[in-house]
Amino acid sequence: MFIEIKDIKKDYGTEDNITHALKQASFSMDKGEMVVLLGPSGSGKSTLLNIIGGIESSDSGKVEINGEAVHGMSEKERVVYRRNHLGYVFQSYNLIPNLTVRENIEVGAYLSKNALNVGELIDVLGLKQHKDKIPSQLSGGQQQRTSIGRAIVKNPDLLLCDEPTGALDSDTLKQILELIEKVKEKYGTSIIMVTHNENIAGMADRIIRLKDGKIVSDERNENRIKAGELEL
Ligand SMILES: Nc1ncnc2c1ncn2[C@@H]1O[C@H](COP(=O)(O)OP(=O)(O)O)[C@@H](O)[C@H]1O
Ligand SMILES: [Mg+2]
Repeated sequence: MFIEIKDIKKDYGTEDNITHALKQASFSMDKGEMVVLLGPSGSGKSTLLNIIGGIESSDSGKVEINGEAVHGMSEKERVVYRRNHLGYVFQSYNLIPNLTVRENIEVGAYLSKNALNVGELIDVLGLKQHKDKIPSQLSGGQQQRTSIGRAIVKNPDLLLCDEPTGALDSDTLKQILELIEKVKEKYGTSIIMVTHNENIAGMADRIIRLKDGKIVSDERNENRIKAGELEL
Protein backbone atom coordinates (compact mmCIF):
# COMPACT_ATOMS: atom_id res chain seq x y z
CA MET A 1 0.00 0.00 0.00
CA PHE A 2 1.43 3.36 -1.04
CA ILE A 3 -0.81 5.58 1.05
CA GLU A 4 -2.80 4.64 4.08
CA ILE A 5 -5.09 7.13 5.78
CA LYS A 6 -6.85 5.92 8.87
CA ASP A 7 -9.51 7.56 11.05
CA ILE A 8 -8.52 11.14 10.35
CA LYS A 9 -10.41 13.63 12.47
CA LYS A 10 -10.22 17.39 12.26
CA ASP A 11 -12.29 20.04 14.02
CA TYR A 12 -12.07 23.78 13.57
CA GLY A 13 -13.12 26.35 16.14
CA THR A 14 -14.07 25.87 19.77
CA GLU A 15 -16.94 24.28 21.64
CA ASP A 16 -19.76 26.74 20.97
CA ASN A 17 -18.69 27.30 17.37
CA ILE A 18 -17.20 24.06 16.16
CA THR A 19 -16.94 22.62 12.65
CA HIS A 20 -16.33 18.93 12.32
CA ALA A 21 -14.41 19.21 9.05
CA LEU A 22 -13.38 15.54 8.99
CA LYS A 23 -14.98 12.69 10.92
CA GLN A 24 -12.95 9.47 10.87
CA ALA A 25 -11.90 9.56 7.22
CA SER A 26 -10.03 6.48 6.02
CA PHE A 27 -8.82 5.29 2.61
CA SER A 28 -5.81 3.78 0.95
CA MET A 29 -4.27 3.92 -2.49
CA ASP A 30 -1.65 2.14 -4.57
CA LYS A 31 1.38 3.62 -6.23
CA GLY A 32 0.68 5.10 -9.65
CA GLU A 33 -3.05 5.42 -9.04
CA MET A 34 -5.07 8.51 -9.71
CA VAL A 35 -7.63 9.11 -6.99
CA VAL A 36 -10.32 11.77 -7.28
CA LEU A 37 -11.79 13.12 -4.04
CA LEU A 38 -15.25 14.26 -5.03
CA GLY A 39 -17.68 16.23 -2.92
CA PRO A 40 -19.62 19.46 -2.59
CA SER A 41 -18.10 22.63 -1.24
CA GLY A 42 -17.46 22.41 2.50
CA SER A 43 -17.35 18.59 2.58
CA GLY A 44 -13.76 18.52 3.84
CA LYS A 45 -11.81 17.86 0.62
CA SER A 46 -9.18 20.57 1.04
CA THR A 47 -8.77 19.75 4.71
CA LEU A 48 -8.11 16.10 3.87
CA LEU A 49 -5.67 17.00 1.09
CA ASN A 50 -3.81 19.45 3.35
CA ILE A 51 -3.49 16.81 6.05
CA ILE A 52 -2.15 14.27 3.54
CA GLY A 53 0.27 16.91 2.29
CA GLY A 54 1.45 17.76 5.79
CA ILE A 55 0.29 21.37 5.46
CA GLU A 56 -2.19 20.93 8.31
CA SER A 57 -2.16 18.46 11.17
CA SER A 58 -5.10 16.26 12.09
CA ASP A 59 -6.56 16.00 15.59
CA SER A 60 -6.23 12.22 15.46
CA GLY A 61 -5.68 9.36 13.03
CA LYS A 62 -2.75 8.41 10.86
CA VAL A 63 -1.33 9.20 7.45
CA GLU A 64 1.33 6.89 6.06
CA ILE A 65 2.99 7.50 2.73
CA ASN A 66 5.40 4.85 1.48
CA GLY A 67 5.70 3.49 5.00
CA GLU A 68 6.53 6.87 6.53
CA ALA A 69 4.23 8.20 9.25
CA VAL A 70 3.51 11.80 8.25
CA HIS A 71 1.24 12.34 11.29
CA GLY A 72 4.13 11.68 13.67
CA MET A 73 6.51 14.19 12.12
CA SER A 74 7.59 17.49 13.63
CA GLU A 75 6.90 20.67 11.65
CA LYS A 76 10.51 20.68 10.48
CA GLU A 77 10.42 17.04 9.38
CA ARG A 78 7.23 17.71 7.46
CA VAL A 79 8.86 20.55 5.53
CA VAL A 80 11.67 18.23 4.45
CA TYR A 81 9.19 15.48 3.68
CA ARG A 82 7.10 17.76 1.48
CA ARG A 83 10.18 19.01 -0.31
CA ASN A 84 11.41 15.51 -1.12
CA HIS A 85 8.21 13.68 -1.91
CA LEU A 86 5.23 15.91 -2.67
CA GLY A 87 4.06 18.23 -5.41
CA TYR A 88 1.14 20.58 -4.77
CA VAL A 89 -1.10 22.27 -7.35
CA PHE A 90 -3.55 24.88 -6.09
CA GLN A 91 -6.62 26.41 -7.66
CA SER A 92 -5.00 29.82 -7.38
CA TYR A 93 -1.78 29.34 -9.25
CA ASN A 94 0.54 30.88 -6.61
CA LEU A 95 3.20 31.80 -9.18
CA ILE A 96 5.93 34.30 -8.39
CA PRO A 97 4.92 37.40 -10.41
CA ASN A 98 8.34 38.71 -11.37
CA LEU A 99 9.81 35.38 -12.45
CA THR A 100 9.45 33.88 -15.93
CA VAL A 101 7.69 30.59 -16.65
CA ARG A 102 11.05 28.82 -16.76
CA GLU A 103 12.19 30.42 -13.50
CA ASN A 104 8.93 29.64 -11.73
CA ILE A 105 9.36 25.98 -12.68
CA GLU A 106 13.01 26.02 -11.62
CA VAL A 107 11.93 27.20 -8.17
CA GLY A 108 10.14 23.86 -7.80
CA ALA A 109 13.33 21.96 -8.65
CA TYR A 110 15.31 23.79 -5.98
CA LEU A 111 16.92 21.38 -3.49
CA SER A 112 15.36 18.37 -5.20
CA LYS A 113 17.43 15.22 -5.48
CA ASN A 114 15.90 13.84 -8.66
CA ALA A 115 14.61 16.84 -10.59
CA LEU A 116 13.39 16.41 -14.15
CA ASN A 117 15.07 18.20 -17.02
CA VAL A 118 13.40 21.62 -17.06
CA GLY A 119 13.65 22.18 -20.83
CA GLU A 120 12.10 18.79 -21.56
CA LEU A 121 9.34 19.38 -19.04
CA ILE A 122 8.52 22.77 -20.58
CA ASP A 123 7.97 20.88 -23.86
CA VAL A 124 5.67 18.35 -22.16
CA LEU A 125 3.73 21.25 -20.61
CA GLY A 126 3.29 22.89 -24.03
CA LEU A 127 4.97 26.07 -22.80
CA LYS A 128 7.96 26.26 -25.13
CA GLN A 129 6.89 29.53 -26.79
CA HIS A 130 6.00 31.06 -23.43
CA LYS A 131 8.97 30.09 -21.29
CA ASP A 132 10.39 33.63 -21.05
CA LYS A 133 7.08 35.33 -20.20
CA ILE A 134 6.08 36.38 -16.70
CA PRO A 135 2.70 35.24 -15.24
CA SER A 136 0.82 38.48 -16.08
CA GLN A 137 1.58 37.83 -19.77
CA LEU A 138 -0.04 34.37 -19.65
CA SER A 139 -3.61 33.07 -19.95
CA GLY A 140 -5.18 31.27 -16.97
CA GLY A 141 -4.52 27.91 -18.58
CA GLN A 142 -0.87 28.74 -19.24
CA GLN A 143 -0.49 29.87 -15.64
CA GLN A 144 -1.99 26.62 -14.40
CA ARG A 145 0.37 24.64 -16.71
CA THR A 146 3.26 26.52 -15.16
CA SER A 147 2.06 25.77 -11.65
CA ILE A 148 1.71 22.08 -12.56
CA GLY A 149 5.26 22.23 -13.94
CA ARG A 150 6.51 23.73 -10.71
CA ALA A 151 4.84 20.93 -8.74
CA ILE A 152 6.12 18.04 -10.86
CA VAL A 153 9.63 19.22 -11.77
CA LYS A 154 11.03 17.61 -8.66
CA ASN A 155 9.49 14.33 -9.83
CA PRO A 156 7.39 13.88 -6.67
CA ASP A 157 6.09 10.48 -5.57
CA LEU A 158 2.72 12.06 -4.99
CA LEU A 159 1.02 14.96 -6.73
CA LEU A 160 -1.78 16.67 -4.82
CA CYS A 161 -4.15 18.88 -6.83
CA ASP A 162 -6.80 21.03 -5.14
CA GLU A 163 -9.46 22.00 -7.70
CA PRO A 164 -6.73 22.65 -10.27
CA THR A 165 -9.32 23.47 -12.90
CA GLY A 166 -11.70 25.60 -10.89
CA ALA A 167 -11.11 28.90 -12.64
CA LEU A 168 -10.78 27.63 -16.21
CA ASP A 169 -13.14 27.54 -19.22
CA SER A 170 -14.12 24.07 -20.42
CA ASP A 171 -11.63 23.80 -23.32
CA THR A 172 -8.73 24.84 -21.12
CA LEU A 173 -10.03 22.60 -18.37
CA LYS A 174 -9.81 19.61 -20.71
CA GLN A 175 -6.26 20.53 -21.75
CA ILE A 176 -5.15 20.74 -18.13
CA LEU A 177 -6.72 17.37 -17.34
CA GLU A 178 -4.98 15.86 -20.38
CA LEU A 179 -1.73 17.28 -19.07
CA ILE A 180 -2.28 15.73 -15.63
CA GLU A 181 -3.04 12.40 -17.34
CA LYS A 182 0.15 12.71 -19.38
CA VAL A 183 2.20 13.37 -16.22
CA LYS A 184 0.76 10.23 -14.67
CA GLU A 185 1.57 8.12 -17.74
CA LYS A 186 5.00 9.57 -18.46
CA TYR A 187 6.39 9.81 -14.92
CA GLY A 188 4.28 7.21 -13.07
CA THR A 189 3.22 9.85 -10.53
CA SER A 190 0.56 8.94 -8.00
CA ILE A 191 -2.10 11.64 -7.98
CA ILE A 192 -4.84 12.77 -5.63
CA MET A 193 -7.11 15.34 -7.22
CA VAL A 194 -9.84 17.20 -5.37
CA THR A 195 -12.86 18.44 -7.27
CA HIS A 196 -16.56 19.15 -6.89
CA ASN A 197 -17.04 18.40 -10.60
CA GLU A 198 -18.67 15.00 -11.06
CA ASN A 199 -17.64 14.82 -14.73
CA ILE A 200 -13.94 15.09 -13.99
CA ALA A 201 -14.09 11.96 -11.83
CA GLY A 202 -14.54 9.85 -15.00
CA MET A 203 -10.79 9.89 -15.63
CA ALA A 204 -9.84 8.57 -12.16
CA ASP A 205 -8.72 5.04 -11.28
CA ARG A 206 -10.56 5.41 -8.00
CA ILE A 207 -13.36 7.75 -6.94
CA ILE A 208 -13.80 8.67 -3.29
CA ARG A 209 -16.86 10.68 -2.32
CA LEU A 210 -16.98 12.97 0.68
CA LYS A 211 -20.02 14.44 2.37
CA ASP A 212 -20.08 16.43 5.61
CA GLY A 213 -16.58 15.35 6.56
CA LYS A 214 -17.22 11.67 5.91
CA ILE A 215 -16.17 9.32 3.13
CA VAL A 216 -19.48 8.02 1.84
CA SER A 217 -18.15 5.83 -0.99
CA ASP A 218 -14.83 4.57 -2.28
CA GLU A 219 -14.93 2.78 -5.61
CA ARG A 220 -12.64 1.63 -8.37
CA ASN A 221 -13.69 3.35 -11.61
CA GLU A 222 -14.46 0.47 -13.96
CA ASN A 223 -15.28 2.75 -16.90
CA ARG A 224 -12.30 5.01 -16.97
CA ILE A 225 -12.48 7.67 -19.66
CA LYS A 226 -9.47 9.40 -21.23
CA ALA A 227 -9.32 13.06 -20.20
CA GLY A 228 -9.74 14.13 -23.82
CA GLU A 229 -13.05 12.26 -24.06
CA LEU A 230 -14.68 13.58 -20.88
CA GLU A 231 -17.95 15.50 -21.24
CA LEU A 232 -17.17 18.74 -19.44
N1 LIG B 1 -9.18 27.31 8.80
C1 LIG B 1 -10.46 27.03 9.04
N2 LIG B 1 -11.12 27.54 10.11
C2 LIG B 1 -12.40 27.24 10.37
N3 LIG B 1 -13.15 26.44 9.58
C3 LIG B 1 -12.58 25.90 8.50
C4 LIG B 1 -11.19 26.17 8.17
N4 LIG B 1 -10.89 25.49 7.02
C5 LIG B 1 -12.01 24.84 6.68
N5 LIG B 1 -13.02 25.07 7.55
C6 LIG B 1 -14.38 24.49 7.50
O1 LIG B 1 -14.27 23.08 7.41
C7 LIG B 1 -15.21 22.56 6.49
C8 LIG B 1 -14.51 21.82 5.38
O2 LIG B 1 -13.77 22.76 4.60
P1 LIG B 1 -12.90 22.38 3.33
O3 LIG B 1 -12.03 21.23 3.69
O4 LIG B 1 -12.25 23.60 2.85
O5 LIG B 1 -14.03 21.88 2.31
P2 LIG B 1 -13.98 21.72 0.72
O6 LIG B 1 -12.55 21.79 0.27
O7 LIG B 1 -14.62 20.40 0.45
O8 LIG B 1 -14.81 22.83 0.17
C9 LIG B 1 -16.03 23.74 6.02
O9 LIG B 1 -17.20 23.81 6.82
C10 LIG B 1 -15.14 24.92 6.27
O10 LIG B 1 -15.87 26.09 6.51
MG1 LIG C 1 -11.62 23.13 -1.01
